[in-house]
Amino acid sequence: MAKSLGPVKRKFSPWTDPASVPFIRFENVTKRFGDFVAVSNLNLDIYEREFFSLLGPSGCGKTTLMRMLAGFEEPTEGRILLQGKDISGVPPYRRPTNMMFQSYALFPHMTVEKNIAFGLEQDNLPKADIAARVEEMLKLVKLDSFAKRKPNQLSGGQRQRVALARSLAKRPKVLLLDEPLGALDRKLREETQFELMDIQQDLGLTFLIVTHDQEEAMTVSDRIAVMDKGEIVQVATPAEIYEAPNSRYVADFIGDINILEGKFECHDPAGPHGDVVRVACEGFTAVVEQQCNVAPGQDVAFAVRPEKIRISPEPPADTSVNALHGEVWDIGYLGDFSVFLVKLEGGRIVRAAQANISRLVDRPISVGDPVWLSWRADAGIVLTR
Ligand SMILES: Nc1ncnc2c1ncn2[C@@H]1O[C@H](COP(=O)(O)OP(=O)(O)OP(=O)(O)O)[C@@H](O)[C@H]1O
Ligand SMILES: [Mg+2]
Repeated sequence: MAKSLGPVKRKFSPWTDPASVPFIRFENVTKRFGDFVAVSNLNLDIYEREFFSLLGPSGCGKTTLMRMLAGFEEPTEGRILLQGKDISGVPPYRRPTNMMFQSYALFPHMTVEKNIAFGLEQDNLPKADIAARVEEMLKLVKLDSFAKRKPNQLSGGQRQRVALARSLAKRPKVLLLDEPLGALDRKLREETQFELMDIQQDLGLTFLIVTHDQEEAMTVSDRIAVMDKGEIVQVATPAEIYEAPNSRYVADFIGDINILEGKFECHDPAGPHGDVVRVACEGFTAVVEQQCNVAPGQDVAFAVRPEKIRISPEPPADTSVNALHGEVWDIGYLGDFSVFLVKLEGGRIVRAAQANISRLVDRPISVGDPVWLSWRADAGIVLTR
């Protein structure tokens, strides 16, 4: 479960400004391998200095998208523009991009410091500058004392950090990071995330990152693209993706959520709950504060995240909220949170999460207890696709 939406981001939202020109533009890009469509007619704009994440299940086309931007693959159809210029045919080393591969691709015969220095030596930078940059990078990834080792003398996580240092050393305008932190333990991973954000902002770089870790994407990104089978399903800020997913797919992919299928009942602009819509689900009607353009009777889903549901032994005092009766079926203790699996009268299970704010609770809720679940009209979402 995503516990937070990450730190409050800097004021940066060029995508909301119609006058701003994207730094990178994918224009109707399709990539086929034989008959197989890996990327399908995809459009995407990324802005200068943006920290942009690609999220999606294995095989959805994330690496392929990056490889096309870096110049290791050419699109089958469509174009990729960099600062408005078509970059097709431009070889990788002539592009202002640098890609850190999923597989690291370190040089096995070179020491850690040589690996990091390699690109800088190719560019004929002065020796003193190279040494200084290598030292800075070694510090950054906390491998100062490993400078003289070779890749086969390192752990997987250490190798990953060398690859990260090597890709950052050249300070490319666009850094493509394919699962850069996957092999790191949680603490190091979180530290490195913040270091990455600092570097990105200090140097004014544009980052495109692939991650399987949603919390990581939420923490580091200005915007996230959620992909499915070669297509982008939604592009939005972390908070929008989490609070206003545009489909069942995105809602289900990011964070924990209850999704209940139902039928759109009506728009009720002036009822006791304010301007709301109603969704008829099995056994109850959900009241949701949301605008949606749907005809009555249409199949929709009602969704609500567990942490937005209040669980209590008594019915809620505020009758303007959504309320359901059920029985606690199971409890998961996660330390900071407890997750209650509550069985409704029809047999359906709804998840409610509660922060464990005090160590001792007067009346703990136990398995088998009858309980009430309640949530506000602005807590739920109606999903139309
Ligand atoms: N050179 C290739 N030839 C044929 N098919 C390929 C080739 N490269 C990638 N594919 C296919 O294209 C699809 C997308 O691959 P891609 O590597 O972009 O996925 P991904 O989203 O990066 O997945 P993962 O999260 O597992 O790294 C996959 O089904 C893959 O098998
Ligand atoms: Mg990949």
